[in-house]
Amino acid sequence: MDSNNLTTEIRNKVDIVDIIGERIPLVAKGKNFFGVCPFHDDTNPSMSVSREKQIYRCFSCGASGNVFTFLMNYEHKEFKEVLKDLGERVGINVTGIHINNVNTKYDHLYEAYLIASKYFQNNLASVAGKEAREYLNNRGLNENTIKEFGIGLSLTSKKDLTDLLLAKKFDLKDLNQIGLSVDDRDIYTDRIMFPLHDTYGKIVGFSGRIYKNIDQSKYINTKETVIFKKGHCLYNYHRAIDKVRVNKSLIIMEGFMDVIRAYTIGVENTVALMGTALTTEQMKLIKRLSKNVILCLDGDEPGKNAALKIGELLLAENLEAKVVLLPNDDDPDSYILKNGKDKFLNLIDSAIPYSDYKISSLKENVNFNSEEDLANYVNQVILETTKIDDSIRVEIILKKLAKDYNIGYNTLEKRFRELKEEKKPTTKIKKEKKVRVRKNKYILAMEQVIFYMLNYDWVIDLVEHEKIIFPSNETRILTNEIIYFYKKNRFINIADFYTYLQDKPDLLASLNDVVSGDHKETVTREELFAYFKVIKDYSVSQEIKRLEKMMKNESDYLEQAKIVEQIRKLKLGDK
Ligand code: UTP
Ligand code: MN
Repeated sequence: MDSNNLTTEIRNKVDIVDIIGERIPLVAKGKNFFGVCPFHDDTNPSMSVSREKQIYRCFSCGASGNVFTFLMNYEHKEFKEVLKDLGERVGINVTGIHINNVNTKYDHLYEAYLIASKYFQNNLASVAGKEAREYLNNRGLNENTIKEFGIGLSLTSKKDLTDLLLAKKFDLKDLNQIGLSVDDRDIYTDRIMFPLHDTYGKIVGFSGRIYKNIDQSKYINTKETVIFKKGHCLYNYHRAIDKVRVNKSLIIMEGFMDVIRAYTIGVENTVALMGTALTTEQMKLIKRLSKNVILCLDGDEPGKNAALKIGELLLAENLEAKVVLLPNDDDPDSYILKNGKDKFLNLIDSAIPYSDYKISSLKENVNFNSEEDLANYVNQVILETTKIDDSIRVEIILKKLAKDYNIGYNTLEKRFRELKEEKKPTTKIKKEKKVRVRKNKYILAMEQVIFYMLNYDWVIDLVEHEKIIFPSNETRILTNEIIYFYKKNRFINIADFYTYLQDKPDLLASLNDVVSGDHKETVTREELFAYFKVIKDYSVSQEIKRLEKMMKNESDYLEQAKIVEQIRKLKLGDK
């Protein structure tokens, strides 16, 4: 059976309402089901699931898709895996059937990394790996841990890996591009190698650590490549996913060794930033994992500063952030080595809310003998409390302030209200909504037409018959794909169209835009013709704009006159 029919068959045999309903509570309302969207931070039921269309969409964050995309995103699995899982559920065996993968374009790059990783691991186990093994053992990492984290070793010889990959018919140009070789030599020599994985668990890079007493940078990471962006990675993410769900919290550390050490004492819901900065992409990953985030960074100044900075970012995303306080000269790794498992677990349990941490940090460098300093401090503390949702905690903090500095509670409370009021207009949800209504009427008209093309084959026929050309690139490509899908399969529905686009992320994003908009259930021919009119007007105004630009760059009078005439005709036709 070809994989197309197979996916359609599996999709038809499961009900998206069951699959999503097993994971998040759904409530029936009219024809649809509603639940809290797991793909952004929310407490309102903004995700709707349609049994009829077999799709879901979120009105708040705009996520949408079919049962496969839901599971891929929710369980962080690849299409193949999800298909296999659902296949098993409905008694269809998909093993042995070739299924196009996401990112097939880069398969050979992943392959090179996999080979490199096995090669490094073999080195570590070989005679040449004796000193590195001793180093790791001295740091208390046993066989099992080394194996679990795929730790390996690059050798002193300068080109073993490059030669090995060349012998396996990899291109030298590719090897240079993906950061395994430089010219015809290996990039990594004589370092302990930590593989870095993407969110699906595929190896996409390495970090190599020195292990002898030499004067070189401690870690060397793979350069940015098409499959590896350091800022998009959280170390250990793919292993932590399930543990985070069980523990209902995520622990964030700075380094690999911290995460690996925590693993050795059974604390597995951890990831490492690989430094002290948190990127936007990493934030997205964190939000997908958990609302409860525990910052367990190094105890030194950079670590403390990072906790303040990152805590603020987490708070702005409405996450519940807590901070673990480590002694000044410890990182989680050294703390665990010195104090053992139980002490560390206690420490995690005693993590304080980020706002408390922030407030206590405000105390530093305040001269409490100066009235100005004190007033400034009190104001800053009150400003912090306006970010806290829990009114009881707010009252406790204000009462303590009143008592500690002998200020009237009512004064503090009044200031609190003032500051809270000032903050109001910029609440996050409002911002998000604004961004989402910025679409102009042309885009909306195109999206409406595309939406109905996905639901009714007669709309596709009408679009073809009326020779409607979509003036924006994305929508034009998307409509072409819809028409192609329809001609090939002789049916159309959104759910299967999602599968069809699954290895075309750009188009999937356009489809998302279309589906997450507001649409009525049905459409009439008259309404469609009204949309067509808007689309045509838009094409004309776009064309006029293009011609006017051309005019500006044209120095030949005769040519200019021709363009003016073209514009005139277009404008006349417009009326
Ligand atoms: P640390 O210096 O705290 O490293 O840097 P670590 O994890 O404690 O490692 P050990 O215990 O010395 O072996 C934290 C993280 O910053 C990144 C790495 O990801 C490291 O795990 N880093 C650090 C680099 O990328 N390059 C460097 O040169 C140093
Ligand atoms: Mn360390």
